Amino acid sequence: MQNLSVRHLLGIKGLTQHDIKLIFETADNFKTVINRPIKKVPSLRDTTIANIFFENSTRTKLSFELAQKRLSADVVNFSAASSSVSKGETLIDTVNNILAMKVDMVVMRHPNPGAALFLAKHVHVPIINAGDGAHEHPTQALLDAFSIREKLGTVKGKKVVIVGDIMHSRVALSNILCLKLLGAEVKVCGPTTLIPKYIESLGVTIEHDLRKALAWCDVANMLRIQLERQDIKYFPSLREYTMMHGLTKSLLDSLPKEIVVMHPGPINRGVEISSDVADAKQSIILDQVENGVAIRMAVLYLLAGQQGA
Ligand code: CP
Repeated sequence: MQNLSVRHLLGIKGLTQHDIKLIFETADNFKTVINRPIKKVPSLRDTTIANIFFENSTRTKLSFELAQKRLSADVVNFSAASSSVSKGETLIDTVNNILAMKVDMVVMRHPNPGAALFLAKHVHVPIINAGDGAHEHPTQALLDAFSIREKLGTVKGKKVVIVGDIMHSRVALSNILCLKLLGAEVKVCGPTTLIPKYIESLGVTIEHDLRKALAWCDVANMLRIQLERQDIKYFPSLREYTMMHGLTKSLLDSLPKEIVVMHPGPINRGVEISSDVADAKQSIILDQVENGVAIRMAVLYLLAGQQGA
């Protein structure tokens, strides 16, 4: 079995092209498995995985849990809201208590950037970052790039525009790092106030005009405005945001060529994307969700394999 170059999946930063190729090839095999009548393999039998979520999630939490069950792992779920965190217990104490119950791997979502790295430095089992604040969301970027590869045959040379709240989005940063590593051309589009000043140092270009950005691209990844991470008003109103940066069916239909439309979810229908675009034939939003299970199976399997877990 081939190995990843990392012991934990903390971000796309730190992965090599070879790591991503290996994850994709492993996910190809697992995608076949989850489309069979019997969707389970015994690969992680006797491995116990804890999913610890300090922030809300629908897709990522369910997708990891399904991936673990398809691999025959034993799964425990921890939600901060119903835990002793509210009584003042620290992150390290919480996780060490979970590990004392003989857990082999931890999947964690946390509102603080760097929380997964911090944990990886203090515990002895593999950590998978399921989103740490506005920093990284590596499995989302992997499933997004995998979905582009599936739809267009390759990621290399494809033109991808990421639209919206680039400043507060862990999906944006992880996608940029992953797509650039795989040889895509990447542009970001959004209001000036939601594009961080450092963004061009990542090798991406900026286009504030949505129509021009869409006319340039092969793929548009539409992001949600992360109001929960915004401490000030970055634009006058959601209505104005939608007028300037929302993707509508008439705009999509007016483009010179057909593009692929993506969204990591959760969608705010009628804000960054209209309902008819979310459900249009160009949209691969539900393919992304399906591919998320195969990608997470691949990541869990590869990390467990090299730990002898
Ligand atoms: N895409 C994503 O991370 O969705 P959730 O917040 O529902 O997990």
